[in-house]
Amino acid sequence: MSQSLHPMLNIAIKAARAAGAVINRASLDIEKVQVEAKGVNDFVTEVDKHAEAVIVDALLAAYPGHGILAEESGREMGAKDSEFLWIIDPLDGTTNFIHGFPVYAVSIALAWRGVVQQAVVYDPNRNDLFYASRGRGAYLNDRRLRVSKRLRLADSLIGTGFPFRKGDNFKRYMKMFEEISQQCAGLRRPGAASLDLCYVAAGYYDGFFETGLSPWDIAAASLIITEAGGLIGNFSGEADFLYQREVVAGNPKVYGQLVNILTPYTRVIKEDDKPAASADAASDATDAFLAEATLPTAAPEPVKRKAIKVSGPRTPRPPRG
Ligand code: IPD
Ligand code: CA
Ligand code: CA
Repeated sequence: MSQSLHPMLNIAIKAARAAGAVINRASLDIEKVQVEAKGVNDFVTEVDKHAEAVIVDALLAAYPGHGILAEESGREMGAKDSEFLWIIDPLDGTTNFIHGFPVYAVSIALAWRGVVQQAVVYDPNRNDLFYASRGRGAYLNDRRLRVSKRLRLADSLIGTGFPFRKGDNFKRYMKMFEEISQQCAGLRRPGAASLDLCYVAAGYYDGFFETGLSPWDIAAASLIITEAGGLIGNFSGEADFLYQREVVAGNPKVYGQLVNILTPYTRVIKEDDKPAASADAASDATDAFLAEATLPTAAPEPVKRKAIKVSGPRTPRPPRG
């Protein structure tokens, strides 16, 4: 592990490991885990809720004045007016977990004024800890991460996620899938977006794209990717992706080639978009959450969205905790 972790990263790592212990214990007797359906093909278990409670308790014990945006409890916990916001997915890959398919993770990000500063993605099956602090590099356990050096999409291994919720735009996804699968060396869909994105940071994948993801799926891994020298954005290649339900990532060369293919499929709503574009954007199931959610300070409004800066020139530094 890198020397002298930022205190807020340290707390996040402890919280992620504690949630990982809850998940590992439950995985020993998976038949006993109570499963509820949030919607068609969209599940939550008592383990998701317990892991989330453990994380939120640990974070608020250390930083009682911070805000929380967590998948299962939304913005219910924590301060509502803080510039600090913890963005949490307590168990990313719940469907895999329920089936005993060993690909799932805990994801915790800390955003300050809407910009992710600290990030942890913990894979409790492999005991793999991916983490990053803004400006200080990305790590997997003790190893510094760098994205791959592959230059051509034709030689690249690409990760993705399939749509699966009622109301998802399957036809649009199938067109992208058809184009990209014919132009790369292989496509993979393991089923935990936070890990998929960390695999880009680690150079296992050369790129990744998915639609329908929520901020807790991507916030932590987005910093891990940029700190590993990669790029992440929306399908037009812009930095406004965290709340846009479309994300593409990769090493800089492959990212550019993926953006060229995906730009025609973008649904990001710009200030000057016509009402028809907003109607189309309302089709995915996750829009319901975004329409109702109280988003963090720097988050875009559901209809008129402003860019969120996630990389690029240095912003003022947050106070150390
Ligand atoms: C899911 C996983 C999956 C992605 C879904 C997410 P969850 O998260 O990240 O890979 O395709 O869109 O919802 O629901 O298991 O936390
Ligand atoms: Ca998730
Ligand atoms: Ca989850």
